[in-house]
Amino acid sequence: MMIALPETQSYIACLECSLCKKEYQLDELNTYATCCNKPLIAKYEFSSFFHKGELMFREHSLWRYFEVLPVLKRENIVSLGEGMTPLVSLSKLGDKYGLTDLLMKDESCNPTGSFKARGLSLAVSKAKELGIDNCIIPTAGNAGGAMAAYCAKAGMKSTVVMPRLTPEIFKQECEMYGANLILEDGLINDCARKVAKLKTGGNYFDMSTFKEPYRLEGKKTMGYEIAEQLNWQMPDIIVYPTGGGTGLVGIWKAFQEMLELGWIKGPLPKMVAVQSLNCAPVIRAFYDPKHWMDGFRPKPSIANGLAVPYPFAMDMIQETLESSNGLALTISEEEIKAGVKEIAREEGILISPEGAAAFKAILQLKKQNLIQNTDRIVLLNTGSGYKYLENLRA
Ligand SMILES: Cc1ncc(COP(=O)(O)O)c(C=O)c1O
Ligand SMILES: [Zn+2]
Repeated sequence: MMIALPETQSYIACLECSLCKKEYQLDELNTYATCCNKPLIAKYEFSSFFHKGELMFREHSLWRYFEVLPVLKRENIVSLGEGMTPLVSLSKLGDKYGLTDLLMKDESCNPTGSFKARGLSLAVSKAKELGIDNCIIPTAGNAGGAMAAYCAKAGMKSTVVMPRLTPEIFKQECEMYGANLILEDGLINDCARKVAKLKTGGNYFDMSTFKEPYRLEGKKTMGYEIAEQLNWQMPDIIVYPTGGGTGLVGIWKAFQEMLELGWIKGPLPKMVAVQSLNCAPVIRAFYDPKHWMDGFRPKPSIANGLAVPYPFAMDMIQETLESSNGLALTISEEEIKAGVKEIAREEGILISPEGAAAFKAILQLKKQNLIQNTDRIVLLNTGSGYKYLENLRA
């Protein structure tokens, strides 16, 4: 049964530079904060009364949190049923490794098979609200497919620029959704360069991670859902496979907003960022903020979404790790592959290599006594393993 959304309003107040806090107007077409060359952040006015108890009457998608999302008019929502993904217990693996409360938020259940659907549903909805009809995106794979699908639903044109080495299925899905697909040698930063070039010759709206303010608002709903699904009790640790950082930063943003709304109480969980040994800028910067680029030679990963060599929101990622008293760690390609197989065989779920990296990180943290056996751990499986089978062959 679909329950209609109530006639409430978004609490969005303005956009703000993430560094100097300069305000940007909502009715203008914004990308990033040009004052400081940093991401823009959506700010809300929480003075009206939004009681979490109302949520039980709402529809089973991320749009249940309408008041804390930036879309002003409901008719602009472009939805394929994203969000409210299951939070499942990995009980067999928990027993095997002596972890009594190991949970997995399974984002593979989203449209187009990844958490990217959340961000692109929001970004395409806002683009529609602002009168945009031609979108472009550099992608490691999943975001491109999601943008193509939401643009199809919205009746917008889409161009997706993807590394040539991405598994075929990511390319095929973009074409099926009617996108103009462009393949580039190299990683997502090379695709971003191509997007910049194409933009000089055409009237595209750029949906790059953190260069568009609303994808983050979609991603943050993972944080709202984790809290709601745990009956507003915070877990101890959240382990997140990090590329551009929207998921990690978004979940943390949701927790700050829910504190303001009075929906949750601290202490908040430690946020853990996981990357592949092949491309680990976040971990390098965590341990050596000044010199992390020295000798940095990023390589592709079978966890395609983690191969983001120069995240635009590096400062915000590091702030999230710091303020949550979090951690950052790398996992090898072999371990990632083994992680996918182990979860498939033990739990019957074929998760993405990115999610498998996060699972292996939990085992590493346990080995180093950085987590307790009784900690409530939430592992984010950000996507479906089915799209990566080509990467996982023996
Ligand atoms: C499956 C998957 N996991 C994780 C990521 C990393 O995303 P972010 O750090 O931007 O949240 C990506 C990005 O492409 C992805 O596709
Ligand atoms: Zn600024």
